[in-house]
Amino acid sequence: MKALITAGGHGTRLRPITHTQNKHLIPIANKPILNYALEYVREAGIKVVGIITNKDGSEVKDVYGDGKELGLSITYIPQERPSGLADCVRIAQPFIGNDSFVFYLGDNIIVGGIRRFIDEFRANDSNCHLVLAKVPDPERFGVPEIKDNHIVRIEEKPQKPKSDYAVTGIYIYDSSIFEAVNSIKPSARGELEISDAHQYLIEKGLKISYSEITGWWKDTGKPNDLLEANRLVLDNISPNIAGKVDQDSNISGRVIIGAGAEIKNSNVRGPAIIGSGTKIINSYIGPYSSIERDCVIQNSEVEFSIISENCKILNQKIRIEASLLGKDVTIIEANAKPFTNRFIIGDQSIIEIR
Ligand code: G1P
Repeated sequence: MKALITAGGHGTRLRPITHTQNKHLIPIANKPILNYALEYVREAGIKVVGIITNKDGSEVKDVYGDGKELGLSITYIPQERPSGLADCVRIAQPFIGNDSFVFYLGDNIIVGGIRRFIDEFRANDSNCHLVLAKVPDPERFGVPEIKDNHIVRIEEKPQKPKSDYAVTGIYIYDSSIFEAVNSIKPSARGELEISDAHQYLIEKGLKISYSEITGWWKDTGKPNDLLEANRLVLDNISPNIAGKVDQDSNISGRVIIGAGAEIKNSNVRGPAIIGSGTKIINSYIGPYSSIERDCVIQNSEVEFSIISENCKILNQKIRIEASLLGKDVTIIEANAKPFTNRFIIGDQSIIEIR
């Protein structure tokens, strides 16, 4: 079995973070979003992975290379232009050959990995296994109609959903999916829809099985979503303190502190993760915070936030909350006269000041 993972797109709604970074590389609990897909695949015993990328831009390849470091063999498959998920499958046919494969949308995070779905796919001898999750807004997703425990129809973003399930971004196929993606026609938005390929399989009488999950997150393009993903992942971490914590500090709840990190005279309340080399001094780090490596947080309070590598937060009088900081961001107190606020900020940033 192989895996095919999507990692393209432009993440326009996650700007400014995505001005300088592919959205799949944004850190969630101190790991790029895409790492979760790659780790689930590896845990499931799959080694040969294709990653669909944008035609231009090598950021994903620059990070993962040939995949050896993760114990994988990665091939990059550039998509000429964004033509839909079924098109991703279509262009991957030479790479997949006759194997079965997991198709995984790289902006999806789930709790508990994917091995169980592969087991179901095999146990049911299915042509296609879909992973469903109950959602409050099915009209934003592919939606199955289910009768007597069978999926009888699938519609993409229907105005009147036939169930309150979404088809998540985790699919397992045998090679019959290729006939489907080569037969369907582009939708009204000009894309080859993966839901149309599923509907094709249903109409051909092929076997579609499904699993239902809880604990699913998908990027819907808003910064707050990333904080929710971070919360979901941090809720499931195992504590591990490798860095130094001095006697005046208090660590409570599930906290990971990376090697070479230092916590001095501070209070860290989990779930939280602090990257290697980061210094937390005289500060409070509250639940659902991810602080990446080589940051300094001093005389400040941070909670429910994602702080990327190499940031400095010094002497802040008001707690920083529900915030998302890119790399190398500095938030410091203004000392010089006149008494002012001063900003040096890139395009499309958002600042809320009290
Ligand atoms: C895509 C699929 C949709 C699926 C969703 C899951 O939607 O078209 O069927 O439910 O992924 O992540 P998109 O993210 O392109 O809106």
